Amino acid sequence: MRDAAAAREKLARHGQEHALRFWNDLAEPDRAALLAQIDSLDLVLVDSLTQRWIRDTPAPAHFSKIDPVPVIKTSSPLSSTDQEASTAGEAALRAGRVGLVLVAGGQGTRLGFDGPKGAYPIGSVTGRTIFEFHADKIHNLQRRYGCTLPWYIMVGETNEAQTKAFFGKHGHFGLDPANIVFFTQHMMPCVSEDGKLLLETPFRLASNPNGHGGCIPAMVECGVIADAKRRGLDTLSYFQVDNWAVKVADPLFIGHHVLRNGRMSSKVCPKTEPRESVGVHCLCDGVYQVIEYTELDIYPQLLETGPGGNLIHFAGNTAIHVLSVDFVEETNRNFANFPWHCSHKKIPYLDDSGALVKPSKNNGYKFETFVFDALQYTNHPPIVLEIGRLGEYTPTKQPTGPNSVEEAQDDMNQLWGGWLEAAGAAVKRSAGGAIISKIEISPRFALTLDEFVERSKGHAWPKNPEALAIGPEGQILTGK
Ligand code: UTP
Repeated sequence: MRDAAAAREKLARHGQEHALRFWNDLAEPDRAALLAQIDSLDLVLVDSLTQRWIRDTPAPAHFSKIDPVPVIKTSSPLSSTDQEASTAGEAALRAGRVGLVLVAGGQGTRLGFDGPKGAYPIGSVTGRTIFEFHADKIHNLQRRYGCTLPWYIMVGETNEAQTKAFFGKHGHFGLDPANIVFFTQHMMPCVSEDGKLLLETPFRLASNPNGHGGCIPAMVECGVIADAKRRGLDTLSYFQVDNWAVKVADPLFIGHHVLRNGRMSSKVCPKTEPRESVGVHCLCDGVYQVIEYTELDIYPQLLETGPGGNLIHFAGNTAIHVLSVDFVEETNRNFANFPWHCSHKKIPYLDDSGALVKPSKNNGYKFETFVFDALQYTNHPPIVLEIGRLGEYTPTKQPTGPNSVEEAQDDMNQLWGGWLEAAGAAVKRSAGGAIISKIEISPRFALTLDEFVERSKGHAWPKNPEALAIGPEGQILTGK
């Protein structure tokens, strides 16, 4: 935006001139920052979202029929179909067709950690961070398949500098920085309950990253898709930063996707209870989509159980996907039609005197897009793999309670403690049978139980440890 007059005119067209109310007190660099932010605002979009979500009561979509999504159930040992898929996935990895997309641009408000979520010291023995666990998986996969896995990491304006600095400080966890590409998603302004923009400082509007769905335009605009094509990639393994357990670039999943020429495929996990706070994968009048848990009361059939008492719509969203590079490009062309979601939040703001107010109850709205909404544009039979939680899906949303740090660390003990026992080592168990030794195993040392058992030969792991951490080379790491 060239000058204040142009900014004022743009704001005035949408009844938002108050965003400049501290203008006369601002220093030159702050004025420039505010003009740049105003320039980037799509106020037509803000108006239409405010109208739809705040002024009107949004009518939920009506579906005549909601069917469960068909899922591929895997078994151990693998069926011949799964074996074929796994081989195809491994071939895609060896051929260098696969890249990784990590979305890490969120604000992590529930975790309340001062820093990017990936920098959270999740390892209960060593304090190793979530980023480090993900990086160790990449090391292992590159060694195993003799490939390079370019790692595209989406950040937001609020954590971009910290995330890049964290990778720099840790030497990119031993990965080649040329294969780590950060890209930045757009921000969306927040609005008050009467649809007005809010200032968080005299020269900065309150805003939030535009949701993980923002990775679709960001991948195109920031050159990720062009980079992927240049490198000969056609398939992207998508995951979220807070799931330390995710099987990054799982060959079985990739294989099911590539063998069926998939566009966007998903992993789902049986819901723990009908009202679990996860989206549900289903077919709405034949179209593959995810219904958010906040809409369960609008579609009560999603809570119904079958004759055996099992939930009919059990397919909980894990936010683990495989995307084809072409599909991202195509979906981006339609991104203007992508649905937006709205949530009522506590948003700190400046009052008219310029004092910062930290509200104790919800006072405004934030708007976001969700990546799973791309599923409805696939025009392809759903490719959905059912997985279990342990060793695949442990989202870390908050310090304690469901989907917490506590649960994540307990899952590490159960998963890796089980591997130690399979390798002939002993771990401590509670009277109820749960593993209570604190265990960490670097995924760079072993990514699977079989690999751990094989690589454990020649190692004498300590018996019944209180705490044990095995490092990337199989060395015993000391505590925090
Ligand atoms: P969540 O929806 O759990 O949000 O994101 P969050 O920001 O991590 O945490 P809360 O809700 O503020 O407590 C799930 C994943 O999507 C990414 C997050 O970084 C996380 O990996 N995400 C979310 C983005 O990359 N961008 C966004 O705008 C939102």
